Amino acid sequence: KVLILDFGSQYTQLIARRVRELNIYCEIHPFNKIPNDSDSFKAVILSGSPNSVRGKDVLHPDLQDIRGKKPMLAVCYGAQYLAHFSGGKVAESNTREYGRANLDFVKSDEAFFENIHEGSQVWMSHSDTIKELPTGGVLLASTSDVENAAYKIEGENTYAIQFHPEVYHTTDGHQLLSNFLIKIAKVAQDWTPQSFVEETVESLKAEIGNDKVVLGLSGGVDSSVAAMLLHKAIGENLYCIFVNNGLLRKNEFEDVLHQYEGMGFNVKGVDASARFLDALAGKSDPEEKRKTIGRVFIEVFDDEAHRIQDVKWLAQGTIYPDVIESVSATGGPSATIKSHHNVGGLPDFMKLKIVEPLKTLFKDEVRRVGASMNMDAQLLGRHPFPGPGLAIRILGDLTLEKVRILQEVDAVFINNLKSWNLYDKVWQAGAILLPVNSVGVMGDERTYEKCVALRAVESTDGMTADWVNLPYEFLQKTSNEIINKVKGVNRVVYDISSKPPATIEWE
Ligand code: XMP
Repeated sequence: KVLILDFGSQYTQLIARRVRELNIYCEIHPFNKIPNDSDSFKAVILSGSPNSVRGKDVLHPDLQDIRGKKPMLAVCYGAQYLAHFSGGKVAESNTREYGRANLDFVKSDEAFFENIHEGSQVWMSHSDTIKELPTGGVLLASTSDVENAAYKIEGENTYAIQFHPEVYHTTDGHQLLSNFLIKIAKVAQDWTPQSFVEETVESLKAEIGNDKVVLGLSGGVDSSVAAMLLHKAIGENLYCIFVNNGLLRKNEFEDVLHQYEGMGFNVKGVDASARFLDALAGKSDPEEKRKTIGRVFIEVFDDEAHRIQDVKWLAQGTIYPDVIESVSATGGPSATIKSHHNVGGLPDFMKLKIVEPLKTLFKDEVRRVGASMNMDAQLLGRHPFPGPGLAIRILGDLTLEKVRILQEVDAVFINNLKSWNLYDKVWQAGAILLPVNSVGVMGDERTYEKCVALRAVESTDGMTADWVNLPYEFLQKTSNEIINKVKGVNRVVYDISSKPPATIEWE
């Protein structure tokens, strides 16, 4: 395995992800917690850091036991660290060294830079710069602004780079990590989703023992995969709660509940639709709707969690992007916890110990882990769906009738995407019920009915998105079918806005 020593960079998890993309197992340890057993890892990566090697709170671990003995790759702060404490010189840089740069000198005959050439784009993010290389340092690459962009130490398997190979904008980052880990360090490529499952299940067993765990299932990929891992680890001691807030897709509650039961989960479906709709009556402000749904969810979940005796843990399907994005940007669960927190004490279930088995994974990795446990491809391939559900796709206030109309429209749209093999090409899709009526004519009758918008976007993380160029014929058929089948709708429009400046949801 590979040891990543974390000096606090926002990109440390991304390094881990890139290493795992090479099917290499890695562990992140705090910079000052180097495992005693140095046989347990084959190579070391030093991460970047928000700190400066020149500052007073310099992070200064003792690397004596590993330096020169294990292949080492020092990134950004790591590179400055090696220089500063081993006879080189680090100073504040005069020019800004953020963002794109290109290598204008590369020592391509080094194994480290194999298949990487001059002109290769790299991503910089630092305010200190290496003025002089450390003792034994050999320059391997430069950019126009950063002379010492990469170096190695003569006589050691130690490499250092000022740029970030882990970020997407470093176009040869994958190649570089593979050169270092596979060619130079000769680390085995044996990390797989299966091995993640085995290790996670073992560590969940050890951590939880015979305790009881409660988990809220949402029907989405993350909570389902988290539940499967826990189910493998502790079986019946995992108590799943699946709440119907009345704002799910058509038939979703029954279908998904059935599916969960089929997977062997100890799951309780709670139909709280009426409670949610009552609480939402007359509310039309988007944030107020979100808060109401969050509050009622917590009440319902807390009631249910109380029925389980001696529960000790709350499991969550948190994935890595949730951790980076943290609170409120998308109004996810952490945001509702926050607003609840503002109005009073925490409900009892929030005093439980937290277990988050997917915290280090990205969405596509979660899907691969799920697939390796033979979970249903349709469940794993589901589009993201917001926690407040259809409530934020019915603009303005909600009624049961509006929910029904939107469920019907959404079902036609999603089913058609599936039958046209477009569903998997789209990151997220749904319909929006607009708060306007417009005039139409059906038969000889004048109608004055609802208008719906269809939205389909492509994205990788929901942070940015673009509308999907769906075939006209598809749109034509879908629009026809909606207007013919769904009573109360006489007009369909397609949303052609990108994010930014629009958002994916309309509220
Ligand atoms: P926006 O509309 O901000 O959506 O572009 C980005 C992603 O976040 C989802 N979303 C939410 N998810 N609670 C959630 O759990 C929410 O309140 C919420 N609002 C937006 C949205 O579906 C998209 O995937």
